[in-house]
Amino acid sequence: MDLLRRLLRTMPATVPTGSEGAVAPDIEAGGPVTDMAALAHAGGPPEGTDLSRPLQARFWGNTGRVIHKWHHYLDIYDRHFAPFRGAAPTLLEIGVQNGGSMQMWRDYFGPEARLFGIDIDPACAALDGEAGVVRIGSQDDPDFLASVLFETGPLDIVIDDGSHRMEHIPASLEVLLPHVRPGGVYLIEDLHCAYWPGYGGGLRAEANFFNHLRRFIDDLHAPYHGEGTTLPLSDRVTGLHVYDSIVVLDCGLRAPPRHSMTGGVAG
Ligand SMILES: C[S@@+](CC[C@H](N)C(=O)[O-])C[C@H]1O[C@@H](n2cnc3c(N)ncnc32)[C@H](O)[C@@H]1O
Repeated sequence: MDLLRRLLRTMPATVPTGSEGAVAPDIEAGGPVTDMAALAHAGGPPEGTDLSRPLQARFWGNTGRVIHKWHHYLDIYDRHFAPFRGAAPTLLEIGVQNGGSMQMWRDYFGPEARLFGIDIDPACAALDGEAGVVRIGSQDDPDFLASVLFETGPLDIVIDDGSHRMEHIPASLEVLLPHVRPGGVYLIEDLHCAYWPGYGGGLRAEANFFNHLRRFIDDLHAPYHGEGTTLPLSDRVTGLHVYDSIVVLDCGLRAPPRHSMTGGVAG
């Protein structure tokens, strides 16, 4: 509550938004820019925003480095990340850019959290040591990821907010998923890019990440269709949550399904 009070006290009358120049360059590169611009919100929190929620307060009261987020992401983060607050989680974020989200995670998870960010842009090296550790390299480079994992050790949270390219998302997942602790989460955002050819996607494109996700779903139900699994790591995912542009994977080792009957009153 102290943080919230402090943030509300420092909240500016108007806050920077996408309409004030913060439309992410990677989205501009491949998406329908005109539509993106039309969806940009100007001004402060929309009516109905619950500023008692920690990430809503932190985002709308942001006086630090630029953060550019779709509004609905904030409550999704909170829903899946809240159990890790104050529990010193180890977090790896792919995509550092201005460093705004890393500052937000520092405030949200607390001083004991171990925060790591990676980015392909060498300029992000200047942010190393600010809110967390920053390393420079590509999310589709397994040797680079291995060197980062050597520093991080087991992970509690992975956020993929990097290139949003269809070939990069599974490449990172394959390397990182085995290093997420049971009970951890792997969140992939900006998956509207799965529908954009500029990112290797498309509504009916084979590479659309949601086709990959479908294989996770089929593997999750392998005991019931009997044809086995197709993804080597699918036994490390216990649940999948699909939102507008965000997928969250619950990580953990799946036990074979069993069922029981309890209670003594029938009929
Ligand atoms: C959407 S921005 C990240 C924004 C940041 N997470 C935030 O919310 O403030 C995407 C970042 O991913 C980086 N990126 C692009 N391709 C990448 C790759 N192959 N590997 C790692 N980072 C990449 C870009 O340089 C850019 O800084």
